[in-house]
Amino acid sequence: MRDEATGAFSYLAGCARTGAALLIDPVVSQTPLYLGMLAELGLHLEWVLETHLHADHITAADSLREWTHARIAVGGRSGISDADRLLDDGDEIACGDLRLRVLATPGHTPGCLSFLWDDRLFSGDSLLIGACGRTDEPGSNGACLYDSVVRRLFVLADETLVYPGHCLSGRRVSSIGEERESNPLFQDASRDSFATFKTTLSTGAQPDILPLALEANRHCGRLLKTEALKQRRVSARKQPCANHQYE
Ligand SMILES: [Fe+2]
Repeated sequence: MRDEATGAFSYLAGCARTGAALLIDPVVSQTPLYLGMLAELGLHLEWVLETHLHADHITAADSLREWTHARIAVGGRSGISDADRLLDDGDEIACGDLRLRVLATPGHTPGCLSFLWDDRLFSGDSLLIGACGRTDEPGSNGACLYDSVVRRLFVLADETLVYPGHCLSGRRVSSIGEERESNPLFQDASRDSFATFKTTLSTGAQPDILPLALEANRHCGRLLKTEALKQRRVSARKQPCANHQYE
């Protein structure tokens, strides 16, 4: 599913036998769509998985947890709090008969993860189709991203399908073999040159929503609650005697 406003992709996978389902990188504005699809397909949501701390949209993780009682799993180095499970490289996520392997692919952010489900790779923003995630966000590291893509993802089987976190080209799926052979960012680039190249190129404007998205997504997308709490804190500072419990 593609969020038209941000171009972000979310992925729903379900177990045919048990009806257990998982959602990867859901966007909060699409929550009604996800709930409708789950109902229509007769699935119950067990897991919400985040590939990383998103800066361009607000996650639906907390909203879906409240609606469905699904659990939220995020990278242990993602900087996201309030999740139900912290994931590390090599971990496995079980959802009915589905088994997803966790691959740590830092670089775009320090806590980026990719999820491998049989011959399908959900690569988040670590590897895009003919591109990769930007490296000018807080905590980004181009050399680290190079290692993740070249040494962790390009060693997977050629036929592994790549489902990225964003679509820049209009396409929705690629393969490891195709990206290894033709992704222009990784052709003849050394680790050092890639890091410099990306740093130089990533000068496009960052999304306006970045500060708000990071703040909300650090708490699984609890934007409204954190905003409400802020207002109460401001109010408390103005009336310290009456409201000091909010400090
Ligand atoms: Fe991202």
